[in-house]
Amino acid sequence: MTTELARAESLIATIPDFPEAGIQFRDITPLFADGPALRAVVDAVTRPFAGSFDVVAGVEARGFLLAGAIANAAGVGLIPIRKAGKLPRPAASITYDLEYGTDKLEAAQDLPAGTRVLLVDDILATGGTLRAGQQLLEQLGYTLAGTAVLMELVDLDGQQVAGPVHTLFEV
Ligand code: PRP
Ligand code: MG
Repeated sequence: MTTELARAESLIATIPDFPEAGIQFRDITPLFADGPALRAVVDAVTRPFAGSFDVVAGVEARGFLLAGAIANAAGVGLIPIRKAGKLPRPAASITYDLEYGTDKLEAAQDLPAGTRVLLVDDILATGGTLRAGQQLLEQLGYTLAGTAVLMELVDLDGQQVAGPVHTLFEV
């Protein structure tokens, strides 16, 4: 790992007992607030997929931050994968399981089938969110160029659900 990436990782804060007792929340906002750190993670997340994607997709909400930065750096467009009820003309939707209950993601069809999409999010935990994102892109006829995150919570084994996922940092 480069010095710049190691410094970026050190900026991720661990907040105990948020949003509820027993949860260690990984807060990426200090990393995103730091220009060189943001550039380093954008470069490192994207590098294995350079030249192999036409557009980047990010999952609401925190995935939007990474997707926006990647889209600008790579000179490609951006597909927002939104939580339910936000899009005026969703072309695809998928319901997926959370630890408690279910959630729904939606996306519009603004690009032709076969478009190569790099799917990104901030964190891979159980993998449910990214698996749903992959299935949504599939419904739209897009080709998955790859899946990438900043950080993986390895104990939850999300790679089994959504892998292979390219990850920069493991906790
Ligand atoms: C968080 C995180 C990932 C997801 C990972 O999103 O940003 O998207 O959980 O969990 P999983 O691998 O178990 O599915 P969340 O919807 O909680 O919050 P956000 O709207 O701030 O992104
Ligand atoms: Mg999220």
